[in-house]
Amino acid sequence: MIIIKTMEEIEKMRAAGKILAECHQQIEKMLRPGISTWEIDQFAENFIRSKGATPEQKGYHGYPYATCASVNDVICHGFPKHEPLQEGDIVTIDMVVNLNGWLADSAWSYGIGTISDTAAKLLQTTKESLFKGIEQAVAGNRIGDVAHAIQVYAESNGYSVVRDFIGHGIGSEMHEAPQVPHYGPAGKGPRLKEGMVFTIEPMLNTGSFRTRIDADGWTARTIDGSLSAQYEHTLAITPQGTVILTEL
Ligand code: MF3
Ligand code: CO
Repeated sequence: MIIIKTMEEIEKMRAAGKILAECHQQIEKMLRPGISTWEIDQFAENFIRSKGATPEQKGYHGYPYATCASVNDVICHGFPKHEPLQEGDIVTIDMVVNLNGWLADSAWSYGIGTISDTAAKLLQTTKESLFKGIEQAVAGNRIGDVAHAIQVYAESNGYSVVRDFIGHGIGSEMHEAPQVPHYGPAGKGPRLKEGMVFTIEPMLNTGSFRTRIDADGWTARTIDGSLSAQYEHTLAITPQGTVILTEL
């Protein structure tokens, strides 16, 4: 069942989203060769708590950190590590902020120092694919319209779309209905209505879309070692149109 939110509830999620967006903005300034994703995680947790909010991912099904930090061939759910980031790496930082019981979820990929043209084009296309999805995320369209737009854009640019991880409804729980895949036919799936709040979070790979999980039980990598990037926003369908809750 898709839980419809009131405008008051959406406003509360917007407040959580603002904190999250500000946190990403600060992280972007900190990222450089030599810094570790563990330091970024410490910063994010402190930042979120300093705003009177909590990092919802920490303790979620036993996940141990405030952020997921997914480097190079890691698709998602990478653990923050002490090992320093290196020039040319790409890293996705994903967080969920809980402010007064209402959540917002956003992931962003970043290049460390100077990155290869291959990596830069992957980042750009993945971000653009998110916005292709957002364009279709309007009342009256279906989830499949969002999914299809992302897949067509990604594949026509030579990238694959991860199947094993998808977007989701969100509210006072991190994962609610509907499921939001980033691939599949247009015209299928639930119809979008005012009061729905969900994430769109495409993960694009330079190689195969297939995944494998590390022995830690969380870290998801590309099966072929190819690069992976992800951009994620939380969106609300409102009478005033579709609103991105996780930007400033
Ligand atoms: N933020 C993720 C999402 O986009 C969920 C992370 S899983 C967790 O759905 F265990 F780290 F919380
Ligand atoms: Co997320």
